[in-house]
Amino acid sequence: MSENSVTAIASPNIAFIKYWGNRDPALRLPANASLSMTLSNLQTTTTVIFDDRLEADQIEIDGSPASAKAASRVTMHLDLIRTLSGVPAFASMRSQSNFPAGAGIASSASAFAALTAAASNAAGLELDKKQLSILARRGSGSAARSIFGGFVQLFSGEVNEDGYAEQLAPAEHWHLVDLIAVVTKEHKSTGSSAGHLLAPTSPIQAPRVQDAARRLETCKDAILQKDFRTLAQIVELDSNLMHSVMMTSEPPLLYLEPESISVMKHVTRWREAGLDVCYTIDAGPNVHCICSFEDSHEVEHQLRSIDGILDIYRCSPGNGVALTANNEQAPQ
Ligand code: PMV
Repeated sequence: MSENSVTAIASPNIAFIKYWGNRDPALRLPANASLSMTLSNLQTTTTVIFDDRLEADQIEIDGSPASAKAASRVTMHLDLIRTLSGVPAFASMRSQSNFPAGAGIASSASAFAALTAAASNAAGLELDKKQLSILARRGSGSAARSIFGGFVQLFSGEVNEDGYAEQLAPAEHWHLVDLIAVVTKEHKSTGSSAGHLLAPTSPIQAPRVQDAARRLETCKDAILQKDFRTLAQIVELDSNLMHSVMMTSEPPLLYLEPESISVMKHVTRWREAGLDVCYTIDAGPNVHCICSFEDSHEVEHQLRSIDGILDIYRCSPGNGVALTANNEQAPQ
């Protein structure tokens, strides 16, 4: 078999309307539809090669052999691709991100989007973006959205083939800025896969899911009409609802740190004072401050005055997954 080394690059995304809980955990069919913005500047670059000579998958993440847990998740994903393509060989996979993993910056989104594109191509599959999105979702729900750039919706789906993402508007549509206030670079103790399983134990999950379609429509209209004030209200409500579910699960999950709350309170005050800014937080303590480009420099300046912020990442709407130009076909 020829050894085809393929590299793909993908970015994480920030969910404006979040998914939390899976209706079908095995297929990772989300409990509710979601909507996100793919982020520029942050990237995962992944290279995959299937090789008959390997006796097991070799998985390296950020320069070191992957932990047993991470490796088994990657191997499960590679198994799906081996089944689809009929390529039985083990693979070597190297993945490098330019931002910390597992700290609520959706590293699994960029990781599984890049892995899906690189591995499916290396195995000779020719998948369109919808098919890539369905397959990426099996690795991580949010990865289905990182296949596309700009503003992206993920349908919840009744069956595997319905659970895919679609672009709502391209990156150029609206120059929003996500200033990610990093308050810790530690790996979170409960990852989102375990968190999704706890969601149904919260009494707030059912009403949160029931109202999700309304929130998504409001958010979608606000994006299409570039209505920042409506966007801000619905994005903060959605984030607060998800964290309420987390905090009321059994056992409860509390991702927020004192510094996260401090940033949330400042953001609310800045908006009351006229700045176009709102907060949203994924499964971690870092706070995504979504702002208009016009107000983003003032917000960044203000963020720098808050104690406990280790770093600020500045992102704009970014591109979907792409293969790099230098992928090579080794001689037979
Ligand atoms: O894709 P996962 O399984 O890591 O779950 C993502 C969950 C959130 O980031 C908290 C919300 C979302 O929709 O991205």
